[in-house]
Amino acid sequence: MNLTLETRFSRRFDLLTPIALAPMALAAGGALAAACANAGALGLVGGGYGELAWTQREYTLAQSAQGTGRIGCGFIGWKLDQDASALDWVLEQRPRAIMLSFGDPRPYASRIAASGAELLIQVQRVEQVPIALEAGATVIIGQGAEAGGHGMNALNSRATITLIPELADWLAAHSPDTLLLAAGGIADGRTLAAARVLGADGALVGSRLWATQESLAPAGAKEQALAISGDGTARSSVFDLLRRKNWPSPYDFRAIRNQLHRQWESRMDELSDQPDAARADYDAGVKSSDFSRAHATVGEAAGLIHDLPPAAQAIERMTRDAAAILGAANPR
Ligand SMILES: Cc1cc2nc3c(=O)[nH]c(=O)nc-3n(C[C@H](O)[C@H](O)[C@H](O)COP(=O)(O)O)c2cc1C
Repeated sequence: MNLTLETRFSRRFDLLTPIALAPMALAAGGALAAACANAGALGLVGGGYGELAWTQREYTLAQSAQGTGRIGCGFIGWKLDQDASALDWVLEQRPRAIMLSFGDPRPYASRIAASGAELLIQVQRVEQVPIALEAGATVIIGQGAEAGGHGMNALNSRATITLIPELADWLAAHSPDTLLLAAGGIADGRTLAAARVLGADGALVGSRLWATQESLAPAGAKEQALAISGDGTARSSVFDLLRRKNWPSPYDFRAIRNQLHRQWESRMDELSDQPDAARADYDAGVKSSDFSRAHATVGEAAGLIHDLPPAAQAIERMTRDAAAILGAANPR
């Protein structure tokens, strides 16, 4: 691919495109991270809940692309507080980058700094940035509520379109060398170009790269995502309750608003008081790959996703189209 969309982020990480693969738990495995790195993006393995064996297996697979210097791993902060062995193992592999989200990153700052990895921290609100900088973040990722997977709930979340320029202004004033990525709804050339226009140095891309051949997401979930428009997802705690994931407030989860979700979304108190029958229904859905009951984790970007290409093709398309839009806006 020609270098057509160079930014501070692509230069700092020696990338061919200012895109980072979101470290999506159980979906961003080694094959996807390697494919993204080989295509010129930063490939972050989804260390997610910090399961050591999964992380070791998938990160080892990703190391096939380690020669690119574009492999790293992401973790969920509040899970690290319970067990950080997967982080410690990854740090021994000398990753290019570690990404942390959803928790206080400061307890992990010194060991990450000692490893030489760059620290990327995902935030949902401006007020979280000083803590991220205190932890040594060199890249801030602003996550809007459009994003697939976990993020902040309706009371606390922000939209990408206002969060990113506000973060860009804040960083320009207080920490101008810190880079900024946009996350949430960046899935094609238009939205990647928009991220640049809003002041980001690039984008963290989840849903678009989830819907690719290399992603470990179940085939039925990917097919369901192709069939819906962006109207078809919702944020709530329904699936966290059904999956027995004790996510701390104020986080909740965006996924496809399927039949089981609709059945419980207005009865959250009842669901938390007596979850057993609903959990059995959910478990049966997972077992039989019935996505009217099992969850499919994708964001509002589902409405912009119409195929399941190899990751390299998705990255090339986004980069080429964004470069064309930005080039047309600024003819030389
Ligand atoms: C399937 C899926 C799993 C995710 N898992 C994680 C995770 O384990 N850790 C994390 O920091 N973010 C996770 N995210 C959120 C991403 O980091 C990112 O914010 C989001 O995907 C960006 O929005 P987009 O999906 O519209 O691209 C996940 C997102 C998806 C779609």
